[in-house]
Amino acid sequence: MSLRPIKKIVETKPTIEGAGVKLQRAFGFGQTTDFDPFLLLDDFRNDNPDDYLAGFPWHPHRGIETITYVLAGSVEHGDSLGNKGKMIAGDVQWMTAGSGILHQEMPKGDERGRMHGFQLWANLPSSLKMTHPRYQDIPSTAIPEVTDDDGTHVRVVCGEFWGKKGPVEGVAADPNYLDVFVPARKRKLLKIETDRNAFAYVFAGSGSFRDASHPRAVLTDQVMNPEAAPVYDATNHSLVLFDRGDSISVQAGDEGIRFLLISGKPIEEPVAWYGPIVMNTQEELRQAMAELRTGAFIKHN
Ligand code: CO
Repeated sequence: MSLRPIKKIVETKPTIEGAGVKLQRAFGFGQTTDFDPFLLLDDFRNDNPDDYLAGFPWHPHRGIETITYVLAGSVEHGDSLGNKGKMIAGDVQWMTAGSGILHQEMPKGDERGRMHGFQLWANLPSSLKMTHPRYQDIPSTAIPEVTDDDGTHVRVVCGEFWGKKGPVEGVAADPNYLDVFVPARKRKLLKIETDRNAFAYVFAGSGSFRDASHPRAVLTDQVMNPEAAPVYDATNHSLVLFDRGDSISVQAGDEGIRFLLISGKPIEEPVAWYGPIVMNTQEELRQAMAELRTGAFIKHN
């Protein structure tokens, strides 16, 4: 067994997206190698409707997949193919934009004003960037859950874990997308295939992902002083990027810890990225923008 050391711990950055939605960005629009095949992770948990009701009106996507996971409130969705839907707490939508869609995503809070959830972007390999657009709308009840003897609880959104297989299928990056809760003060080893890039995103409680037997300093974006004490604890809004190995270790703090554990096989292709469109070359980006202007963007109806 080889435990994955931590490469870095990053805190989210406040970001404004769509028509003025205030959210927290864990990663995105930077260097893409560490997270390949993933491009971006946004945390849109918010308890103030003024911060999110403007939503994400009509916009295009091409060359990627977007994965939306709602924890509270709802998101109304509509697109250029005529699809319409509403996601509620616990639901997942896996959208393969492929050759292109135009859609809008409008968050609506629950009765307490809460709108909680995450959006992950996964890249598509060059061979699938212009594939047919496709949706997989997964109701909460279709997501398998498994509880271990010590109370560790896992929802399997995509991929296989502890003998359960998630409902999302046919995704290029072959991702593993888990929602994991580890109870207070428990230590847990979780397997991740060695050829994958992997990260954890903490959204409740706290804990440490350090390999206890091999203590080593962890750099964070926050540490400006090289003499500063190493940071080991991950709390709400911490993103933990792992190095190579076949499993991760997590030691839950006094309130337990809940996190997304996401891994995928790197695509290792050039990335040309403009807003919601991600291709391999600048020429492909120029073509996409030209097609948006002339109305030739949508290829499949
Ligand atoms: Co979108």
